Amino acid sequence: MTDERLATGVASVDRLLGGGLEADCVTEIYGEGGSGKTLFCLEVATRVAREGRWVFYIDTEGVSVDRLRAMAGDDLERILKRFLLSTPKSLEEQGRAVATACALAREGKRPVGLVVVDSATFYYRLSLSGSDEDDARQALSLELADLVVTALAAHVPVLITNQVWRNVRDGTLEPLGGSFVNHAAKTILRLDRLPGPRRRAVLIKHRALPEGTAEFRITVRGLEGPVPSERSTVPPSP
Ligand code: GTP
Ligand code: MG
Repeated sequence: MTDERLATGVASVDRLLGGGLEADCVTEIYGEGGSGKTLFCLEVATRVAREGRWVFYIDTEGVSVDRLRAMAGDDLERILKRFLLSTPKSLEEQGRAVATACALAREGKRPVGLVVVDSATFYYRLSLSGSDEDDARQALSLELADLVVTALAAHVPVLITNQVWRNVRDGTLEPLGGSFVNHAAKTILRLDRLPGPRRRAVLIKHRALPEGTAEFRITVRGLEGPVPSERSTVPPSP
């Protein structure tokens, strides 16, 4: 275990996380569409790449190049040189992309600063309720195990995003993947939409910090978070 943190660059969220993402574990962000999961990943990734470390970015949704350009500014070329981007088109391709990224990170030939899987559950969700549901569960759990081991072995932060489903019993939004994902992630953040460009990050789980919340805003340059005055209690899932 280590106290080392990777600052996300979103001040309020960094404060919520005690400085940033932990280097030897998986951090999960979940939230409804448009809550800012992808922008959050890009914000951290551009920051890591700008500093000259590699980002292994597994993108199942199509990274917005315009958005990346707006965040990167004049550094776009430099940042892209440190991006190893894969865009899997199926659960099987995603599995291979994760395995490759993990192997390269563990190999240690390149200085790897971050591994991102956005979204970890897009193809998994498509496989649910089909004949290959069990295979999908197994593929997801193997991938997560690989990411957990790699974070620890390569001492690299792993950031995954997860989609949500609405629990009809109480109307709350729950992350997909159930206990597989919840156990694999040592830190879990939920992102909530607030009016306009405002978003709220809720720290649902952390091995060393209490639950709490932080607000940030979506701007043309990326995400900006005012330093919150106080941690507050966790609001219910919307
Ligand atoms: P899903 O992947 O659909 O689950 O959503 P997400 O949580 O990844 O949201 P994302 O980070 O893509 O977007 C967050 C918000 O930023 C949304 O309200 C978008 O409308 C907005 N947004 C995304 N891309 C752009 C862009 O290129 N320009 C601007 N101005 N806004 C954007
Ligand atoms: Mg997204």
